[in-house]
Amino acid sequence: MFKILITGVAGFIGSHTCVRLLNLGFDIVGIDNFHNSSHEVINSILKITNRKIVFYEADIRNSKKLCEIFKKEKPEAVIHFAGLKSVAESVEKPLEYYDNNVSGTICLCRVMEKFGIKKMIFSSSATVYENSNPPFDEESQVSAPKNPYGKTKFTIEQILFDLKDWDIALLRYFNPIGAHESGDLKESPLGIPNNLMPHIINTALGKMPFLTIFGNDYPTFDGTCVRDYIHVEDLSEGHSKALDFILNKKGIEVFNLGTGIGTSVLELIKIFEKTNKIKLKYKIGPRRLGDVAVCYALTEKSQNKLNWKPRFDIEKMCRDAWDAAL
Ligand code: NAD
Ligand code: WQD
Repeated sequence: MFKILITGVAGFIGSHTCVRLLNLGFDIVGIDNFHNSSHEVINSILKITNRKIVFYEADIRNSKKLCEIFKKEKPEAVIHFAGLKSVAESVEKPLEYYDNNVSGTICLCRVMEKFGIKKMIFSSSATVYENSNPPFDEESQVSAPKNPYGKTKFTIEQILFDLKDWDIALLRYFNPIGAHESGDLKESPLGIPNNLMPHIINTALGKMPFLTIFGNDYPTFDGTCVRDYIHVEDLSEGHSKALDFILNKKGIEVFNLGTGIGTSVLELIKIFEKTNKIKLKYKIGPRRLGDVAVCYALTEKSQNKLNWKPRFDIEKMCRDAWDAAL
């Protein structure tokens, strides 16, 4: 069976993808520096799958260490999740974001090239569409987003497009939420969370007195922003399909991973409340700088070329996220 190296394996999406690939029989070498995750996740992966991964606590910017790992493990392909992902933090610490995400990816690619490994799946983001009009397909115009986090994703995409003899699946995620059905894996960011679902969970747990909705005067049906939420398990399946794709095909391809269905912030709150039979306290606050009103995907290309279709609805996303939090 193929051996796949996963960077950011202890993170939210990396851990779910790792479990799926182990269950499919792949051998996994995992790397993480635990900047936004903990060692417990590695134990959870073993608990769920009853399979061990070869794990290295390492930073993707440490070229020497990466060389040792590639020399010893000889992976066939890399799924590259490792990165910093907070938009707000990136505005405060732009150099940290450019260094970690852009320099880190260049370091990783150079080591891959040195060892003749030129197959990669990269975690990009729908944020690269932020200056276009929704819905977005893979041909929609991309441009540098306004915040440094988004700029790192845009820049890495541009770098990867220049690697002509590589096989790369560039995956643009929309809004991943939910958790593994076992409840043993979930989104558990260290520090103050950035995204909406962790805030909903913290409010439901009583860790936050109320949730602030960032603006209700957007040109949407209820005034709150609309996003394309996707279950992390569907996302992880998208990675296994993308892996089949790069292991069999040549060149670089972009794929959207979303459901194509838009849900507003208020709708998500209501669905979370109804599904989990819980009341959420919330207040309407001012708009958050940089938010777009509407963002959702067109997913025909992923469905046709990857033979991938998301299966889980928004109720299931809310249920699994809450069950894993309890
Ligand atoms: P996450 O923070 O849960 O996982 C990222 C993992 O990478 C963490 O475990 C972290 O410790 C590790 N890491 C960070 N920098 C590292 C470094 N230099 N060396 C080694 N390990 C490092 O985030 P996630 O939600 O799982 O996201 C995974 C990827 O997907 C990220 O690149 C993110 O930008 C991208 N993405 C995420 C979303 C989202 O909403 N979650 C949306 C679009 C794109
Ligand atoms: C969703 C909606 C907020 C928190 C970001 C990145 C993107 C991608 C996914 C990350 C928005 C509203 C949020 C809160 C709120 N990558 N909100 N109250 O902004 O769509 O996308 O995460 O790695 O690149 O930009 O996701 O979850 O932050 O927000 O009202 O306390 O929820 O305004 O409309 P976003 P999000």
